[in-house]
Parts: sequence; C-alpha cells; structure tokens
Amino acid sequence: LYAVKHREVFLTVLFNTQISDDWPGYSLDLFTYPQHYYGDLEYVLIPHGIIVDRTERLAKDIMQDIGDNDIVVLCVLKGGYKFCADLVEHIKNLSRNSERFISMKVDFVRLKSYHVSQQPVNDQSMQDMQIMGGDDLSKLTGKNVLIVEDIVGTGRTMKVLLNHIEKYNPKMIKVASLLVKRTSWPDGYRPDYYGFEIPDLFVVGYALDYNEYFRDLNPVFLKISVEKLSFIE
Ligand code: IMP
Ligand code: MG
Repeated sequence: LYAVKHREVFLTVLFNTQISDDWPGYSLDLFTYPQHYYGDLEYVLIPHGIIVDRTERLAKDIMQDIGDNDIVVLCVLKGGYKFCADLVEHIKNLSRNSERFISMKVDFVRLKSYHVSQQPVNDQSMQDMQIMGGDDLSKLTGKNVLIVEDIVGTGRTMKVLLNHIEKYNPKMIKVASLLVKRTSWPDGYRPDYYGFEIPDLFVVGYALDYNEYFRDLNPVFLKISVEKLSFIE
C-alpha cells in the first residue's frame, strides 16, 4: 500500500506538475548538498533533473506559441536567474534545430520589497516594491516580452510588475514562472507558463533564497523552520 501510495504521488508530480500537499518529498540522504546547509533543510521537493526536463518542455510550449517572433526575455532577479538561464538555453537549442526561430534579447529587472518599516521581507510577500531596471524599460515599447520569474506566491509581486511594464505599451506580455504556490490568496495570479504547482510552503534552492542563503543548491528544497536554522544568530 505504501508503494502504491507513493507511486500515485510520484505520478501526480510528473504528469500533473501539481505537487500535492501530502507529497513527502525525497529524503535528503538520496542527494548531495553542501555541508554548510546540513541541518537546515527538510527534504528535496523537486530534484534538479526534473526541473531541467520540465524547463525543456516549457521552452517547447513557448516556441510553439510565440516562435517566429522577436522577444525580450525579462529575467526577474535574483531568484529567476537559474530558471531563466536554463529556459533561454533550451529555447536557443530548439530555435537552432527547427524551422521556427526566436530572436531573443535578454534583460533583467530587480524587485526589492520592503515592509513599511523599510525592513527587507523574508518569508512574506511585500508591502511595497521597488523596481530597478537593467536597460531603460521604455525599450519594451512595441516588443513581445517574456517575463521569467522563480516563483509566484500570492501573485502580488507579479501584478505590480505587470502593471509597471504595461505602462511602456509592449506588444505582448507573457509570464513564465518555475513555481506557483497554492495559496489561499483569493485572486491569485496564474502565469502563462509554469513548471510546477507546489503546496504553500517556503522553498529554497535553484536560485530561490531565504535571506540570500540557499541559492547555491541545484534542487528545490523545503527548508526547516526559521527558529532552527543554524546560521540565524
Ligand atoms: P508573491 O508576491 O506572494 O507572489 O511572492 C512572490 C515573490 O516572493 C517571489 O518573487 C519570491 O522572490 C518571493 N517568494 C515567495 N515565495 C517564496 C519561496 O517559497 N521561496 C523563496 N522566495 C519566495
Ligand atoms: Mg523572485
């Protein structure tokens, strides 16, 4: 029964891209990760290989929908950099090996969130957001923009960013996010493309951070509760 149950959960992960609330994750003993994080992680939520394979498929879907266009890939730093780099790599490969091709420019935005008290936010979403551009965002006028983000939680961040970008009148905006959380937020935002829907848990790794820690991990992990983290003074 145990095996059957786990197989079901596993199939759910693979075929629905929807990781259920009772998914137990993969034991940390099955993978390697740096010693400085020993004791800080609970389990592996999504192994790196699955992320990479899923990203390849998202690249194919994106090519199918918006191939033959010029696009500007707008990577949301810092958390989006791994997913964005892998996604662009896959799109480039597809583009090189098919009749359809995308001409891509890549740009970056950095979003900084502050509480009203100006303290940076960790687990929670933002009260107030500052958007810092790479290039002048007015270059997006009339362009097809693909925003690439690591994770959509309540969706507030993405809505603020979309509102901001829309002011520059791009021809099209699509959003790709590696992860989407099942939050209880009433009007949650759904990206056009996403890798996995995950439970409402705080995850790290694959460029997703907690206080700038954990970006240097390949899989997506669940971190242990804040009070127990070894590096919190
Ligand atoms: P939202 O505004 O609630 O959708 O939150 C989205 C932003 O919060 C993302 O851009 C992330 O930077 C951050 N975030 C939300 N959940 C997580 C998480 O589980 N791990 C790391 N960062 C997260
Ligand atoms: Mg982010």
